[in-house]
Amino acid sequence: MKRDKVTVCVPATSANLGPGFDCLALALDLWNRAVFTLKSSGFHVEVHGEGAGQIAPNRQNLMVRAFLYFYERFNIAAPRGLHIHCTNQVPLGSGLGSSATAVLGGLLAAQALSGYPASQQEILKLACELEGHPDNVAAALLGGLAIVAWDKNEVVARRIELSKVCAVVVLPSMKLPTQAARAALPKEVPLKDAVYNLGRAALVVEALRNGDMELLSQCMDDRLHQPYRLEMIPGGKAALAAARGAGAAAAVISGAGPALIAFPTGDPEQVAEAMQSELSRCSLPARRFILSTTNLGASVGD
Ligand code: HSE
Repeated sequence: MKRDKVTVCVPATSANLGPGFDCLALALDLWNRAVFTLKSSGFHVEVHGEGAGQIAPNRQNLMVRAFLYFYERFNIAAPRGLHIHCTNQVPLGSGLGSSATAVLGGLLAAQALSGYPASQQEILKLACELEGHPDNVAAALLGGLAIVAWDKNEVVARRIELSKVCAVVVLPSMKLPTQAARAALPKEVPLKDAVYNLGRAALVVEALRNGDMELLSQCMDDRLHQPYRLEMIPGGKAALAAARGAGAAAAVISGAGPALIAFPTGDPEQVAEAMQSELSRCSLPARRFILSTTNLGASVGD
């Protein structure tokens, strides 16, 4: 049944999880909520919370573009007007999948408002076409821990139910665009580094599935992206070491950064404090988020 108003909630995500570069991501209990209302003309986006005053309020908005992309790709006549009211908890450009929330929000709202029966796989594919990388969108859509791979033009994704674990996210106040963070990576890597990551990526899945913090501490390390990206975050390397010193089983860059994510075994505040204090030595103030993983993915309601 067609409707003229719909609410979409999409979680933050943390991609890579150390060794799972472009292949792993998990959903976090931090949400962007958007109410879409069809109008007779004009596209307008109203943003409250994270990103207020920084996000395009019109047709250039990523959520609006994703919304209209759905109609274009399925050859359906698009609505002539739309109002989106966003209440955002996910910080922009942070490595917590805020653009994935916008892309999925737009696509899922278009699906609900058009009544077109797109499958979850089709939504995922459109989201990947817009986003470029499948990890964040898969975790945000499916919830839990997502494992993804490209197969020609298709994205293959599976969801693993997670043990609920606490995640400390520390977000340094600096810009690190994903494009720049990707440009810093080598085009080729030594076979031994690829092998180093392969086993660890599989073990990270097992550790997170079972909430096995000891295993996580042994396997959440990376040689494909993190060493290069840490150079771009002043105090980043020391902050990850400090997190482990303060009782985190593991600590890594979240997605393409600049956020850092740690998995504490004890007091999460202590871990956050230790990380923030290392960053502040490099004159980099940072925000902290004490979160937990979630098995819930994006949802659509009235
Ligand atoms: N896997 C991506 C990266 C995350 O590390 O560049 C951004 O989608």
